[in-house]
Amino acid sequence: MPKHGGQNSQKEQEEIRMKFFADTSDIDAIKDLADLGMLDGVTTNPSIIAKSGKEFIPLIKEITQVCSGPVSAEVASTDFDTMMKEGEKLATIADNIAVKVPLTEAGLKVCKRLSDAGTMVNVTLCFQPMQALLAAKAGATFISPFVGRLDDISQTGMELIADILTIYEGYPDFHTEVLVASVRHPQHILESARMGADVVTCPPDVIKKLYKHPLTDKGLADFVADWKKTGQSIL
Ligand code: G3P
Repeated sequence: MPKHGGQNSQKEQEEIRMKFFADTSDIDAIKDLADLGMLDGVTTNPSIIAKSGKEFIPLIKEITQVCSGPVSAEVASTDFDTMMKEGEKLATIADNIAVKVPLTEAGLKVCKRLSDAGTMVNVTLCFQPMQALLAAKAGATFISPFVGRLDDISQTGMELIADILTIYEGYPDFHTEVLVASVRHPQHILESARMGADVVTCPPDVIKKLYKHPLTDKGLADFVADWKKTGQSIL
């Protein structure tokens, strides 16, 4: 039961933690994050797929075999009928597919239809809190507010996350997880964790910045140097 679904039991509270999704289609980068224990899911979008230069369906299939968590694959059309057909086809790729649809009237109708049929749906391109409310009412599994693109136009993307989380708290029957997207730097991840977002989806290089600190590097160098002075070996 996600945190927005009213009071959680102690066990469910213990299970609540912010999940890390990789916002990429790069298989090697996805495997690398899996090795780090930092891969709870993957998100893609048509721009990410175009950048890969690879065939869409086989690439998504390969990703679902590397990542056991939700893998978002986005429809390419904008009309209801074609998005429905595309979404139903994408859903057959693997059980862990989340069909991604845009936050438009047609996208919300597709979301409702697919979620009623038991398919995970990630509603994307969210830029204001009422869009997120409608997505949740349409049964979205995930809502993807784009914080970086709001920052890019001198707005405060993380305020959108705070607004959505506040609104969702008032709807105990909502099961939509807030998936912070368009993440540009570690501060977006830190603030998302502080706010209690359910998921952040990040470019792999941003995730890897999280473990870097100059004092860690200096401290390690000092340990190595001091150990060398002992002339000892553990092995
Ligand atoms: O994939 C959805 C979102 O993360 C896209 O981010 O960097 O294109 O704004 P970006």
